[in-house]
Amino acid sequence: MAKMKAAVFVEPGRIVLDEKPIPDVGPLDALVRVTTTTICGTDVHILKGEYPVARGLTVGHEPVGVIEKLGSAVRGYHEGQRVIAGAITPSGWSNACQCGYGSQDGAGVAHGWKPLGGWRFGNTIDGCQAEFVLVPDAMTNLAVVPEGLSDEQVLMCPDIMSTGFGGAENGGIRIGDTVAVFAQGPIGLCATAGAKLSGATTVIGVDRIAGRLEIARRMGADIVIDSSREDPVQEILRLTGGRGVDVAIEALGLQDTFEACLRVLRPGGTLSSLGVYSSDLKIPLGAFAAGLGDHKIITTLCPGGKERMRRLMAVIQAGRLDLGPMVTHRFKLDDIEQAYELFGHQRDGVLKVAITP
Ligand SMILES: NC(=O)c1ccc[n+]([C@@H]2O[C@H](COP(=O)([O-])OP(=O)(O)OC[C@H]3O[C@@H](n4cnc5c(N)ncnc54)[C@H](O)[C@@H]3O)[C@@H](O)[C@H]2O)c1
Ligand SMILES: [Zn+2]
Repeated sequence: MAKMKAAVFVEPGRIVLDEKPIPDVGPLDALVRVTTTTICGTDVHILKGEYPVARGLTVGHEPVGVIEKLGSAVRGYHEGQRVIAGAITPSGWSNACQCGYGSQDGAGVAHGWKPLGGWRFGNTIDGCQAEFVLVPDAMTNLAVVPEGLSDEQVLMCPDIMSTGFGGAENGGIRIGDTVAVFAQGPIGLCATAGAKLSGATTVIGVDRIAGRLEIARRMGADIVIDSSREDPVQEILRLTGGRGVDVAIEALGLQDTFEACLRVLRPGGTLSSLGVYSSDLKIPLGAFAAGLGDHKIITTLCPGGKERMRRLMAVIQAGRLDLGPMVTHRFKLDDIEQAYELFGHQRDGVLKVAITP
């Protein structure tokens, strides 16, 4: 049986490069030869054992590659095409998908709290930090990369860009809006870019690292606030003449930033939450206007599927946004353990790494 190299979760603290069989292709699958992939903050949670996955699972959920082999029932593609697939690979046929929420595939109130059903790569099935990845439901999930776009230009589409833009879109940003984005990590930076593209005329980026605020400006922030130096809530209220913002995007996952988002909202404003929270949230009475503020709180899980990927790549192809500069470091798959070491400890100003098998 032919083998491939793959980055595998062994136990908390250990993701190692190992050999695995190249997977067999089922009727609806596609085998993709990975040409570039990256590491997500979520993979670091997996590495630390904070998000449990099965031992022996190949990690990674951001694939760029070339179709190596198609399942017998897959139509509309051919081998050799350059493709990406979203981090979330919806089936297309579940109730959640039919309601327009493919990321929630398989989740259901009847089954208790079981989110992330649509997230399969490096979660419930083998992921793409490997030489090959099996893409399930290929006709729902394979998006052909437009001519002329490099791997690194589309590398952020599967996860970071889809999520950040999703936060802006679901926040319902309108032309002329004022938007605050709390945290300028990869997700917050894409939310900042998404807010600008959505027509917000004042985008306020908040972070505690000067370097991140610098990048936030390049991604579209009109004003940046260093929350290690000043109180972002006071500053945003001052900047808006006490009016507050139309939309506040939370891109970190902490009580502190969630609450700050509520406190800067204008009456009727929207808190668009992207962060993954690891403890219960409290909604303070004052910030919530005792439930009478006409506020909206909306959450988003990274949208997937081929049409989503096509739209995101169209944004890049049209030259509206270049996320290539988010790639700050490059590694071979053989050196992925070093890449985890650097990215996991956020050394050397790393933003995103490109991994090439
Ligand atoms: N909703 C989704 O589908 C989805 C997808 C991917 C990631 N996420 C979540 O999005 C969040 C952000 O991910 P990321 O990869 O950009 O994170 P990251 O850890 O790379 O970046 C976080 C940023 O927050 C800044 N920060 C820290 N404390 C702060 C504070 N008090 N105020 C302002 N900024 C502060 C840091 O300086 C850093 O720039 C995480 O919770 C992640 O789990 C959600
Ligand atoms: Zn991710």
